[in-house]
Amino acid sequence: MSLPERPANLPHPEYQTPRGVSPLQSVRGAGLEYPNYTPFKLPNLALKSFTDRGLSAHPEKSSLLSAVSSITHLTPEIGTELSGIQLTALNDPQKNDLAALVAERGVVFLRDQDLDVHQQIEFAAYFGALHIHQMAGIIPDLPWVHPIYKDETAVNGRSHQIWHSDVSYELQPPGLTMLRMDTLPHAGPGGGVAGGDTIWASGYAIYESLSPKLRAFLETLEAKHSGLEQAEKALRTNGCLRRDPIETIHPVVRTHPVTGWKTLYINENFTKEIVGLEKRVGDILLDTLYRTIAEGYEFQVRWKWTPNAVAIWDNRATFHTGIFDYFPHLRHGLRVAPQAEKPYLDPNSKTRREALQEKMEDEKTV
Ligand SMILES: [Fe+2]
Repeated sequence: MSLPERPANLPHPEYQTPRGVSPLQSVRGAGLEYPNYTPFKLPNLALKSFTDRGLSAHPEKSSLLSAVSSITHLTPEIGTELSGIQLTALNDPQKNDLAALVAERGVVFLRDQDLDVHQQIEFAAYFGALHIHQMAGIIPDLPWVHPIYKDETAVNGRSHQIWHSDVSYELQPPGLTMLRMDTLPHAGPGGGVAGGDTIWASGYAIYESLSPKLRAFLETLEAKHSGLEQAEKALRTNGCLRRDPIETIHPVVRTHPVTGWKTLYINENFTKEIVGLEKRVGDILLDTLYRTIAEGYEFQVRWKWTPNAVAIWDNRATFHTGIFDYFPHLRHGLRVAPQAEKPYLDPNSKTRREALQEKMEDEKTV
């Protein structure tokens, strides 16, 4: 494995991230801004082919699951923690199984992962072409990494957590997405490590909780996802813009290509309107769905980070939000996001519950 080809015109072409060190230290040590917002231009994204690695998984995911020392389902609906493996030691069949497990469970967690940022990029690139953010700060020589970074200068956000799916305005938004946290906030009483948990919610579970009539209606709908507001904010503040910002129409309900299950695909950050409904009516519908995401505690998992813990989630079938309860403390992690397929709804696909019920009945008749 090697790193993807670097785009042209990267800022600070002389800079190289050293191995085994958090870029949080090494970039600043070199006298550069971190994250770095120096503008550079990228071509607009065009559709590219994608085959999900999870489609090559063993039906029982036995390559992966035979290697772990424990598997803990953190809630019935979403979230599984694996122990006893290092991601860097996984072979391709194990990575395929991991993709299928993430697709089914929404998010998979691993603690104490011994991988530096180069290895993280190489690992994530196995699952798809790595997304480069349209406006966020970057590590100067590793633009595929999205630094998750807040310190004492982060004054907004405390009262405004927004559930979202990452960069859903793209033609091919990310599927499996990987975040490794290396610096945790000391926001606890007496300066102890606490704060900055992340919550995920299951799109499958939320979708199947809705009434059949509402589901049937949602399946007829498409929504506009927009990157314009984010781009405008970048230009207003200290950010930069690398591509022309876009708006994309996606189905409100999409089918996951690996599980074949239907999932709800709208989010408060980027979904601006339902196509073909009066704005007033579409907004009420969206708001109802956003409230279901935010208030459906039975569809959620809350993860407490430890240094070098990794979360791998599926942006197609989950929503997430970080909890900003640690101002003015420092929290830092690195996200890498392989792009997946263009969202689609297969009219013959099922909800997760329907599909699992059918599978059980088939097994009974065998
Ligand atoms: Fe996010």
